[in-house]
Amino acid sequence: MAPTTAQTDLNDLLEIDAADVGKDDAASLLLRLAAVLGDANTAYHTNDAPEIDDATYDRLKRLNAAIEAAYPDQKLANSPSDQVGAAVADKFGKITHAVPMLSLGNAFSDDDVVDFEKSVRKFLNLDQTTPLAFTAEPKIDGLSLSLRYEDGVLKQAATRGDGAVGENVLANALTITDVPHRISGAPAVLEVRGEVYMSHADFAALNARQVEKDEKTFANPRNAAAGSLRQLDSKITAARPLKFFAYAWGELSEPLADTQSGAIARLKALGFSTNPLTRTCDTAADMIAHYEQIGHDRADLGYDIDGVVYKVDDLELQRRLGFRSTTPRWAIAHKFPAELAWTTLDAIDIQVGRTGALSPVARLTPVTVGGVVVSNATLHNEDYIAGLGGDGEAIREGGDLRVGDLVQIYRAGDVIPKIKDVDLTKRPDDAVPYVFPEVCPECGSAAVREAGDAVRRCTGGLICPAQAVEKLKHFVSRGAFDIDGLGAKQIEMFYHDDALPIKEPADIFTLRARNDAALAKLENRDGFGKTSVKNLLDAIDDKREIPLSKLLFSLGIRHVGDSGAQLLANHYGSWDALAQAVDRAVIGEGTAWDDLLGIDGVGAVMATSFLEAFHNDAERASIDRLIAELRVQDAVVRDTSGSPVAGKTVVFSGTLEKMTRAEAKARAEALGAKVSGSVSAKTDILIAGPGAGSKATKAASLGVETLDEDGWLALIGDA
Ligand code: IVH
Repeated sequence: MAPTTAQTDLNDLLEIDAADVGKDDAASLLLRLAAVLGDANTAYHTNDAPEIDDATYDRLKRLNAAIEAAYPDQKLANSPSDQVGAAVADKFGKITHAVPMLSLGNAFSDDDVVDFEKSVRKFLNLDQTTPLAFTAEPKIDGLSLSLRYEDGVLKQAATRGDGAVGENVLANALTITDVPHRISGAPAVLEVRGEVYMSHADFAALNARQVEKDEKTFANPRNAAAGSLRQLDSKITAARPLKFFAYAWGELSEPLADTQSGAIARLKALGFSTNPLTRTCDTAADMIAHYEQIGHDRADLGYDIDGVVYKVDDLELQRRLGFRSTTPRWAIAHKFPAELAWTTLDAIDIQVGRTGALSPVARLTPVTVGGVVVSNATLHNEDYIAGLGGDGEAIREGGDLRVGDLVQIYRAGDVIPKIKDVDLTKRPDDAVPYVFPEVCPECGSAAVREAGDAVRRCTGGLICPAQAVEKLKHFVSRGAFDIDGLGAKQIEMFYHDDALPIKEPADIFTLRARNDAALAKLENRDGFGKTSVKNLLDAIDDKREIPLSKLLFSLGIRHVGDSGAQLLANHYGSWDALAQAVDRAVIGEGTAWDDLLGIDGVGAVMATSFLEAFHNDAERASIDRLIAELRVQDAVVRDTSGSPVAGKTVVFSGTLEKMTRAEAKARAEALGAKVSGSVSAKTDILIAGPGAGSKATKAASLGVETLDEDGWLALIGDA
């Protein structure tokens, strides 16, 4: 391929010292720099094939900025200096995980660990005398990676992404020495999962090199590992020593072992690094003792960990325990306590969120807490600032927070830092109590605090620009529509763009059809070029087809989070069914309301908020405009093809003898059945154990099929 003019120009440009540039040369140099940097951006962001390295790119950008500083009147209208990182095209290919990559529930205290053991026993109906083993191993503070081997050859390496779809980083994974390229004696299909991390020593050396090269340093090893794994240029990844511990698996063509510990030993034998601090434990007390030991050794491990993970050892029990919507029932992460530091509270700002909540934020004199520089912390709500807890009780011994105070910050893992304490002896004489605003600082509407609610909310609804923008940011976020090239920054820009406004979700999908002249103007602006505008419009079109659960989550309805959206989607099955039910429903009464509350995991608070959003005329109209642009996919609970009970509504009643009610329910749901608490004309099967009573009578009168426990187990092939 012939080099472009810009490429041949590159070497000449690199010879130039900004101090030598005279006024006459400035204009033409700036044009040449814009061309070279423009090509470099396209190569990097759009073609996935960087043509110059980061250091060269940065040198050119600095040269450009220096010439502009010397001759401001020569600065180009579309200067590369003003481009805020190009709208990124699909950097890596997407991979749909054969088995979702889930996260873990957390335990923060010894009691939580005891409760974990109890809940496992309860679910499985194991009494205290039945042995129950767990593994306990460090929780590595890195990022998870799934490696897929087919016939012993590494074929795919995927990041976790949103758990369902990750990014293919195979080229980079191949540079990690702990990741075998080939293995022998393994199942034909083997997905090995584990954590990519960087050691303390490698992290320090990397940052030292970055300083030497005058490049950005990383805040902590985790960020360094993440930044390195997601490099487009695998040569850069190769120069950054990453490590990998295997601790789990995804799809397998045959089981690795009967136990978690056996499976890990097998992975070790196949050539993977596994954590040497993994133990098996027989009781909660054993687990806690191992946690204490690991905590004690933590500082000397040479890599960051943020807790200890406990897993039920017996894989058959793991299978029976199964998963909640996003976490396994058979494992938990016991987190280490937060790290602490003292600093000054410089200001209190109010942020308005997507549900109108006025959230006070502490602006702090920057301080390092657990290796990360912290300059903001959450202040929760006005009571919290005043020194009152959730039940009106005094916190911090009643000490309120004032601008100028010396405050103690704590931060645990990735959570937003919080304020733990205030030193009243250091309070400046002129510090005054904080007065919480009663109007929304963004739109001026009244900010109202309802009885029983700790939070003051803006009543402006969609007219409040802060709420509208935050709703949109949530809409495009990861886990929601996740549109490549349309992040928080671009939403801010489009929201305020008079020619191509995005004021509500539907506007995203009408962008292409709107105004050619305005779209043309978008090119070359705010980090957009011709290709990135095209990529953005394509990325938007890619998301027109969306699963019902994701759509519901994306709407950003208060109290309807990830798992709530999943429950609602599974229950209603399709957009049409949901819309009809919602139209019929009356908050607090009637069959549609009862049906909604009948969903396990949906309470009155979520149900009310969900219906209120749909019953609000303006909001509903906005949702309907969005739906008109989309193809909403029906909820597919799981691949239950072949399941004899998929789509059936079943009710359990009376005593079950072979498993607990919770396990029976989870099992039925895993097979695609809906489990309801009461018998109605919609019930397909009643599973009646001894003492089923009135439900059995009602089922008989409605002609509902009734099975005993053995009949049910035979039906689902579990006898
Ligand atoms: S097991 C189904 N074991 O922690 C759960 N996870 O907070 C499979 N992590 O997403 C995960 N060390 O990235 C497991 N020893 C360990 C881990 C570990 C770190 C990470 C992992 C997971 C996250 C959950």
